[in-house]
Parts: sequence; structure tokens; C-alpha cells
Amino acid sequence: MIALTGRTVLLTGASGGIGAALCDALVKAGARVVAVGRNDERLQQLAQQQPAGQVVPLAADLATDSGRAHAIAIASKLQRTPSILVLAHAQSAFGLFEEQSMPELRDLVETNLLGPMALIHGLLPTLQAHPQAAVVAVGSTFGSLAFPGFAAYSATKFGLRGLIEGLSREYADRNLTFQFLSPRATRTAFNTSAVEAMNRELKVAEDVPADVAALLVAAIASGRPRMQIGWPEKLFARINGALPGLVDRSLKSQLAIVRRHARR
Ligand SMILES: NC(=O)c1ccc[n+]([C@@H]2O[C@H](COP(=O)([O-])OP(=O)(O)OC[C@H]3O[C@@H](n4cnc5c(N)ncnc54)[C@H](OP(=O)(O)O)[C@@H]3O)[C@@H](O)[C@H]2O)c1
Repeated sequence: MIALTGRTVLLTGASGGIGAALCDALVKAGARVVAVGRNDERLQQLAQQQPAGQVVPLAADLATDSGRAHAIAIASKLQRTPSILVLAHAQSAFGLFEEQSMPELRDLVETNLLGPMALIHGLLPTLQAHPQAAVVAVGSTFGSLAFPGFAAYSATKFGLRGLIEGLSREYADRNLTFQFLSPRATRTAFNTSAVEAMNRELKVAEDVPADVAALLVAAIASGRPRMQIGWPEKLFARINGALPGLVDRSLKSQLAIVRRHARR
């Protein structure tokens, strides 16, 4: 078990739908949150909703080298440095792969994969200076089961899962744990109206951010290395690992619906 009271948590995506709920839940669990996002105004508002000093805004664009370097430099010079890094930022990219441009795809990888990789790399010395530290990546069901219409996004989440799994094995004998915690579809601005319409048609269940945040905080405190939220998603992710052909056939039957919603 990891006690959250008195900890400093560096939380990326803190101004997002899941991130803001997570920020609130972490403060309620006794942590102080360094809140990262690009939009400073939204981060300031987030800080004002919490007791003074409990949320420290840190504006940085994690898709860029300079933004990552800025976040790492500020976080490692704080008086109370973070012992927990929670990576909850990402960019969505619903659409047909052939209709996505190379600059869009590059930006997606920079944000969702290279951003987390650079932050973990740059903050390792800071994290390891604590007697017990954790890196928590907010993944996705699509990090275990790639979905049509989300091929490039799924690739970034598969990559993130590989990074976290590899690091958890590389640091297995240290006091630094790595967790990959996966929400299923959640009602936030992350999902466009096209995604919501597709989810309704495919009868995909959607969670509310507060419920997801409560599950994430419980998983962080437990230190468990992996979590997939949602019962059918848990099962499908496992079937995809063991018998991917079954999932291929099931998704092929839904392909016409996906294409109709994914087309630009
Ligand atoms: N919502 C879902 O259905 C769902 C399902 C499974 C997994 N997830 C995962 O859950 C996490 C949170 O998703 P969400 O639904 O809360 O998304 P969201 O509401 O769209 O929030 C995204 C957050 O990421 C930040 N962000 C995006 N690009 C950034 C960049 N280049 N640099 C710094 N910050 C950036 C945004 O802040 P700024 O715009 O101010 O930069 C915002 O705080 C993501 O990792 C997502 O992949 C979401």
C-alpha cells in the first residue's frame, strides 16, 4: 500500500475530464498536486477550487522538447518534489488512418508516447530520491485491444503499456513502482460527438469521470501494476491477448458502423 497523505503528485492532464476529477480525489486523499496542462487559465481555476497551496499549476506543452524540459526543471526544483508521477494527459484521434495526415500522427506520438517517456526519463532522479515512489500511466482499453478508427491512438497506448511494463520489470528490485491503469470509454471532452454517436450505436458503456478517478486513486494507493476498468472490457482485453482471431471476427461485424462514424 502507498500512503498518499503528504505526498506531492505531479499530475499531467490535470485540467481534463478525468484529470480534474483525479486532482480532486488526490487532494481529498491528502496529496498535494502539481497540475500540468497547456492552458494556464484552466489550471489556475483548478487550483482555486482547492484549499490554498494544495494544487500548484504548471503550464507546459508536453508535445514539445521545451515544454517537457520546463515541466521537469520546475518539478525537480520544488521544495517538496514529487514522489508520484501520474501521466493522465493524451490526445484523442478518432478517424480513418488513411484520412489522418503525417503531422497529425507525429503530434499524436509526441503527446501520448514521447511526452510520457521524456517525463519519466527526466524525473527518474527526483523520484528515486524518495524512499518510495511511483509512476502511474493512465492507459486505455485500446492499449490492450486495438480498435478500428483508433489505430494510431491504439498504437500510442500499446507503446505506453510496453514502456510501463518494461520499466516495472527493469526496476523490480527498487522502491519505484510502475502502474498501467486503463479506463474504458468515459464521458469527457476527449470523445467527439462522432465517438459518442458510435458508442451509442455499438452499445459501448461510458463511465463518469468521478467514478473513474475514485477507481484510479484506489489503484494508486494499492500499488497494483495493472488495472482495466469495466467488466466486458476486462474480458475482451484478455481474449484479445489469448485469442485475437475471435476479436478480429467480432470487430469485423461492427466495421461498417465504425467506418460510417470515423469518416471525415
Ligand atoms: N475519455 C475517455 O473515453 C478515455 C478512455 C480511456 C482512456 N482515456 C485516457 O484518460 C486520460 C485522460 O483523458 P480525458 O478523457 O480526461 O481527456 P481530456 O478531457 O481531453 O483531457 C486531456 C488533458 O490532457 C491535456 N493535454 C493534452 N495535450 C497536451 C499536451 N500536448 N501537453 C500537455 N497537456 C496536454 C489537456 O490539457 P490542455 O488542453 O490544457 O493542454 C487536458 O488536461 C488520457 O490518457 C486518455 O487517453 C480516456
